[in-house]
Amino acid sequence: MKYRRFGQTGWDLSEIGYGMWGMAGWTGSEDAESLVSLQKSIDLGCNFFDTAWAYGDGHSEELLGKALRANPGKKLYVATKVPPKNRRWPSRRDFSLDVSYPPEYVFEYLDRSLKNLGAESLDLIQYHTWEDKWLDDPRTVRTIEQLRASSKVRAVGISLNRWEPWNGIRAVKSGLIDAVQVIYNIFDQNPEDELFPACRVHNVGVIARVPFDEGSLTGTLTMDSNWPANDWRSTYFVPENLRPSVEHADALKPLIPAGSNMAEMALRFILNNRDVATIIPGMRKQRHVDENIAAGDKGPLAAALHAELRKHRWDRQPTNWSQ
Ligand SMILES: NC(=O)c1ccc[n+]([C@@H]2O[C@H](COP(=O)([O-])OP(=O)(O)OC[C@H]3O[C@@H](n4cnc5c(N)ncnc54)[C@H](OP(=O)(O)O)[C@@H]3O)[C@@H](O)[C@H]2O)c1
Repeated sequence: MKYRRFGQTGWDLSEIGYGMWGMAGWTGSEDAESLVSLQKSIDLGCNFFDTAWAYGDGHSEELLGKALRANPGKKLYVATKVPPKNRRWPSRRDFSLDVSYPPEYVFEYLDRSLKNLGAESLDLIQYHTWEDKWLDDPRTVRTIEQLRASSKVRAVGISLNRWEPWNGIRAVKSGLIDAVQVIYNIFDQNPEDELFPACRVHNVGVIARVPFDEGSLTGTLTMDSNWPANDWRSTYFVPENLRPSVEHADALKPLIPAGSNMAEMALRFILNNRDVATIIPGMRKQRHVDENIAAGDKGPLAAALHAELRKHRWDRQPTNWSQ
C-alpha cells in the first residue's frame, strides 16, 4: 500500500481507502462478511474509512467502531458525515441552512456519530451535501470553526453533490475546509477543470468517491441488470441511465490491458491524478478488498492508456433520478 499526504492535515492516507455505504445500505450485505473485509483491508495497509450516519442510520458507523476496537494499536483515520436535516440528497439551490444544517443540529449529529463509533473523537467530519451559498450565512463559518476547535474532530470537509464539482469551489477557496469528497472516475473527470486546481492552491485534501460509477465501471452491468425495489440502485440505474451506462462501459472493454479487468483499470486511472489523496471504493466482499488493494499496488496506468481513457469523459447533468 502506498500513502499520500491529505492536504493541510498532514495525514498520510492509504491510496486505496474504504467506502462504507454499501455494507449498511445496499441489499445483499452481511455484517460478518463486511467485518472480515474491513479487517482484511486493515491488514493490507488501508487506513482511511469513509462512513456516514445516514448509512443505515448509524449501522455503518457501528461496524467501523468494531473494526477500530479490534485494531487498537493502529492509526486508522475515521471520516463520517452529518446527514442533512431534511434528509434530501442531493441538496438543491433553494434549501436553506436552516432546513439542512442548523448549527445545533450539526453538533447533535457529531455526538450521535461518536456514540455509534464508540469513540470520543474522530478525524474528519463532512457535510453530507453541500451548497456554496451557505457560506453567505455567518453561522456556517462559525460552525466549521467551532467544529475544528473542538476536541471531538480534527478536520472538517464537504461532500459534493453528484455532478456538481463547481458547487464547492467557493468553499475550497475560502480556506475554511480541510477536505472535499467528490465523484471522480473515468467518466466523471470534471473535477479536473476547476475543483482540483483550487484544491492544489489551497492545500485541501481530495477524496475520490464512486470510482466505479456505482457499478458500471466494474464492467459487470448488462442491459438486463436489476435490483430489488428496496435497493437504492433500482432507483438510480433506471432504464434511462442503465442503457447509456452499459454502452459507455462496453466502449472501454477493448482498452482493458491483458490480464487486467475493468475495475482494476478504473482504480488505476484515478491513481494517475496526483491531486487525489485517497480513493474510496465501496467494498463488502473480501475478494474486492484484495483486488482493489492489488490494483493500488500496480500504481498509475501507462501514459498512453491513461490518455486514451481520458477521451471517455462523460459529462452528465443532475436529473430527477441521479440523486
Ligand atoms: N454523497 C456522498 O457523500 C456519497 C455518495 C455515494 C458514495 N459515497 C462514498 O463513496 C463510497 C464509494 O461509492 P459507492 O460504494 O457508492 O460506489 P462504487 O465504489 O463506485 O461501487 C461500489 C460497487 O462496486 C463493487 N466492487 C468493488 N470492488 C470491486 C471489484 N474489484 N470488482 C467488481 N466490483 C467491485 C462493490 O461490490 P461489493 O460491495 O459487493 O463488494 C459495489 O457493488 C461509498 O461507499 C461511500 O463511502 C459518498
